[in-house]
Amino acid sequence: MPTSREIPVLYSAEEIEERIITLAREIALKLPPDLMIVSLLKGSFVFTADLIRALYKIGLHPQVDFMTLSSYGASTESAKTVTINRDLTEEVKDRHVLILDDILESGRTLQFARNLISQRNAASSRIVVLLEKPGKREVPISADFVGFTIPDKFVVGYGLDYANYYRELPYVGILDIH
Ligand code: IMP
Ligand code: MG
Repeated sequence: MPTSREIPVLYSAEEIEERIITLAREIALKLPPDLMIVSLLKGSFVFTADLIRALYKIGLHPQVDFMTLSSYGASTESAKTVTINRDLTEEVKDRHVLILDDILESGRTLQFARNLISQRNAASSRIVVLLEKPGKREVPISADFVGFTIPDKFVVGYGLDYANYYRELPYVGILDIH
């Protein structure tokens, strides 16, 4: 397995930082200010940390909660089911929810999260993802806000992992494991 320092850059830390500032502005323009952010762990913890501080800089103060879902084992193969490993502690009823995830691939994780949140009677739900892989969707779902649309490669860094490695990379890189 390559070490962190051997992973080639797809989006640099600077490019991600700039894009997140713009995303925060798009979110602030389109969504109500009293947002409840539902961050899907583990992959989105770095993205969440940066996005909520970008929202702060433009005057938003969302409530933030976390939910751990898993659809992946320690491999790059998509699993068939999504399960809740750790649930939210806040109620989403009557709240305007913004679901945050690291990457939209098959769409199963986000479909599961969005269904759960609407079953709990949220006032609205929107989705923001840092990355999106087009052409990989297995269920009909799209994100309302997308950081970057990426090629069909396995990516790591900036919170995204392979077997819980590489999350510490400050950039998004391509993991070539062959
Ligand atoms: P989906 O349910 O297939 O859309 O997959 C979403 C989840 O799979 C993400 O939250 C990631 O944790 C994981 N995932 C999908 N593609 C990648 C990748 O290229 N690198 C790392 N994790 C990925
Ligand atoms: Mg994940």
